[in-house]
Amino acid sequence: MAVIAQKCPGIKVTVVDMNEQRIAAWNDPNLDNLPIYEPGLKEVVAEARGRNLFFSTDVEDAIDAAEMVFISVNTPTKTYGIGKGMAADLKYVELCARQIARVAKSDKIVVEKSTLPVRTAQSIRTILNAEGKDLNFQVLSNPEFLAEGTAVQDLHKPDRVLIGGGQDEAGQRALNALADIYAGWVDRDRILTTNVWSSELSKLTANAFLAQRVSSINAISALCEKSGADVDEIARAIGMDSRIGPKFLKSSVGFGGSCFQKDILNLVYIAQSYGLTEVADYWEQVIKMNDYQKRRFAENIVQKLFNTVSGKKIAMLGWAFKKDTNDTRESAAIYVADYLLNEQAELWVYDPKVKAEQIYADLDYLNTRSEDENRRLVKVVNDPYEAMDDAHAVAVLTEWDEFKTYDWQKVFEGMKKPAFVFDGRNVSNGRMLGTIGFHYQGIGK
Ligand code: UGA
Repeated sequence: MAVIAQKCPGIKVTVVDMNEQRIAAWNDPNLDNLPIYEPGLKEVVAEARGRNLFFSTDVEDAIDAAEMVFISVNTPTKTYGIGKGMAADLKYVELCARQIARVAKSDKIVVEKSTLPVRTAQSIRTILNAEGKDLNFQVLSNPEFLAEGTAVQDLHKPDRVLIGGGQDEAGQRALNALADIYAGWVDRDRILTTNVWSSELSKLTANAFLAQRVSSINAISALCEKSGADVDEIARAIGMDSRIGPKFLKSSVGFGGSCFQKDILNLVYIAQSYGLTEVADYWEQVIKMNDYQKRRFAENIVQKLFNTVSGKKIAMLGWAFKKDTNDTRESAAIYVADYLLNEQAELWVYDPKVKAEQIYADLDYLNTRSEDENRRLVKVVNDPYEAMDDAHAVAVLTEWDEFKTYDWQKVFEGMKKPAFVFDGRNVSNGRMLGTIGFHYQGIGK
């Protein structure tokens, strides 16, 4: 929304949320206090805020005044009832639709920005029309393809913008109204229009394909470690085939983030609910492979440290699910830490952007051990050298650039011997670390 406001000064954008604290943070005069860390975002907010970008808790006023309403609430995996652990929980989307239906006094174009199961637009339309008002509601699907850490860049120069809408005249008019907004800075030939169902399902499909690439290369990484092949060399070799392409082939300790797992589970659930068992099983394997990769990384640490990490200090570099974000949702680091804590390791965590309370909250959420125990066994520090000092091993969980620039000679001297580095992101120079004296293990090496 901030980028729309930046690029279209003639459009008034109001971002509303019930959460007062969050809105206050978005309105904070100090732009370093915005609730999300994202490169380039504070510059965008600085340009548009107060001009045509506003943040408010007055949800009803904003709905009343708007011609177009974007529903951008979260759709987490259900934690109860039918579809528990798989289906998307649509209660927040439904609440938005009900609120719009109740408050609206004029025609509205309602845009699904949240990631939703295919055919959700049908439910939204039914709810909007149920109040029996003599108003025209159009429902569009406009999934978001930005990735965290590069969000602003992705929005400024999107590969494509996808808009799904009704095929009748009113539907096409609504669709064109939204396309015109994006055309303010995106080439028309990159604005793709489809029917609503294709648009909804494209979003889940895109994330499923992306995650599948990571799981595919990670599956090969396990084979590399057994056979002497190098997964980065393989990625380069296959990526030069233009049909495969070089992107998204970076082997890792496993993908994380709030989307991939949730969206694939949702896809699996949808396939199952249509009775398409083979389709469901096929996509579920992407998640299984990812779980295997995280477990394999942690198991390898225990095994290499002479089959016990009990009471041993292990430094974890990185907690975010990828670099350049402070987001930790579904981060591989959480699961690796949990595994090592079950083996009674003593963990010292350093991440340049993630706060200690977030790290403890992530561990507490798993409910594997008491909150006291998590705080006793895990220390979060602001200095990476303190984390690594006197440690038996260093585990790299996020690919932060700064990890490449550490004084590894100094780190080696301060560590217990033999000193191990387990690089879950292949960011370090393994050969150089080996020369210093480390026992180095990258992914797929
Ligand atoms: C992902 C998609 O890339 C976006 O297109 C989509 O809009 C977004 O989900 C969403 O649905 O909101 P995001 O989760 O922010 O974006 O980040 P990605 O760059 O896709 O990374 C996801 C995970 O895969 C990270 O843990 C990353 O480290 C891992 N990854 C990615 C790899 O391990 N290897 C790769 O080659 C690429």
